[in-house]
Amino acid sequence: MSSDFSRRKFLQTSAIAAGGLFASNTKAIALEPKIQSAPSKPVGANDRLRFGIVGVGMEGSALLSNAIALPGVECVGAADLYDGRHTLAKEITGNPNLQTTREYRELLDRKDIDCIIAAVPDFWHKQVVVDSCQAGKDVYCEKPMSHTVPEGFAMIEAAEKNHRIVEIGSQRVSSALVAKAKEMYQGGAIGEVNMIELTLGRNSPTGAWEYPPPFDLSPSNLAWDTWLKDTPKIPFNPDRFARWRCWRDYGTGVAGDLMVHLLSGMQATLGWNEAPRSALSLGGIFRWKDGRQMPDLQTVLFDYHGIPVYVRLGLSTETPETARFMGPHGIIDATEFGIHYSSQSGKDTAPSYYDMSFPEKMRDEYVREWHAKNDPRIGKEPLTAETTYTGDDWDDYKPHLWAFFEAVRSRKPVVEDAVFGNHAAIACHMANESYFSKRQVFWDANTRTVKT
Ligand SMILES: NC(=O)c1ccc[n+]([C@@H]2O[C@H](COP(=O)([O-])OP(=O)(O)OC[C@H]3O[C@@H](n4cnc5c(N)ncnc54)[C@H](O)[C@@H]3O)[C@@H](O)[C@H]2O)c1
Repeated sequence: MSSDFSRRKFLQTSAIAAGGLFASNTKAIALEPKIQSAPSKPVGANDRLRFGIVGVGMEGSALLSNAIALPGVECVGAADLYDGRHTLAKEITGNPNLQTTREYRELLDRKDIDCIIAAVPDFWHKQVVVDSCQAGKDVYCEKPMSHTVPEGFAMIEAAEKNHRIVEIGSQRVSSALVAKAKEMYQGGAIGEVNMIELTLGRNSPTGAWEYPPPFDLSPSNLAWDTWLKDTPKIPFNPDRFARWRCWRDYGTGVAGDLMVHLLSGMQATLGWNEAPRSALSLGGIFRWKDGRQMPDLQTVLFDYHGIPVYVRLGLSTETPETARFMGPHGIIDATEFGIHYSSQSGKDTAPSYYDMSFPEKMRDEYVREWHAKNDPRIGKEPLTAETTYTGDDWDDYKPHLWAFFEAVRSRKPVVEDAVFGNHAAIACHMANESYFSKRQVFWDANTRTVKT
């Protein structure tokens, strides 16, 4: 199954290797997955949603398997430029008569299709989303929303003008774990956040995108020239097809592939919906010297309305994926399968050690007064909270797909709409712009451009 190669699977392996981050003696509470919430209206035979999928590669195949497992949802067509993926779509749906085509516009022309799932490489997102919106289809589009900054705004405009639901595919935004982290933050668990750290490290060829191209791939079963879109024409190249993330013409590097998930989770947890003011990125190609352009190690320091957000992404050393939110009252550590909260009083628990610089008489007086003022009353000693929630993988597809299909039915907006997705994507573009220009870059909201 294609989903065996998915990011989720990959990260699961990483988490197991990381070993028992939450194996603490604190109380573990299992969260109910969001998928169990009731639909906004009963799903009867007449409410069946019919979707078409564009791009049935590594991610599209996982989305397809998960979408058809949801109640009231049916896949009625699949488009891909590689014929092998027409076979795959028929296998996943179990429907040998599924309409398959190399031309996604054929799906957009079908009146019986309500919505589109788009899982094409980054440099194709804008075209598929704009065309889908103009054809009156709602669309679930993979992350990062855009390949360039102007594309994101064109996508927002298409969604708004055509009154379409657009959901971007950083699936953890719909996870019960992120919802719990948000609830804790909004409830004042750590106070006002003053620093965020987002980190993830991989250490394997697959983790570094050295995917094996399908071995029958050839210009006779792949529309290679179409795949290239408006990028420079180059001869058929199976590595470009399978490993497009490595090149700037097609992908957005570790920023658009991985950082965008962490940033989207951060936006959802904190209730932020904005681009950063600035980004300063440092990194390089340290290990995977296979001709790629995009860095295999990238660190970024963002400024979000004055709050520093530090990001570290690497493909050469495995480290767990974590989002750490810090404030004066404690820390929320969010990871793939759990959230750990530890409170901090922010107060001295003993007389200040600065008293060592006092002469004895003064020190004794200070210590006596400190205890008189600060010692807890017997039986009223302060308690420190340590809370752990464990849940399903925050990158499960079903809750996010469900949110999309529910919005298609109810016409109520999704959380990760085009504006939300655009903000996360802009941050990724700023990180890459800073990395390549070797300078700090700034977001100019008036001109909607990244300035150095
Ligand atoms: N949300 C996640 O966790 C997650 C995980 C992996 C990938 N992704 C995203 O999903 C998208 C796809 O990634 P992937 O790894 O599946 O890539 P992939 O190369 O495996 O699959 C992309 C498929 O799209 C097809 N395609 C390209 N242009 C097309 C067009 N114009 N019309 C029809 N089909 C077209 C290709 O032939 C290919 O089969 C990317 O944007 C990626 O960032 C998201």
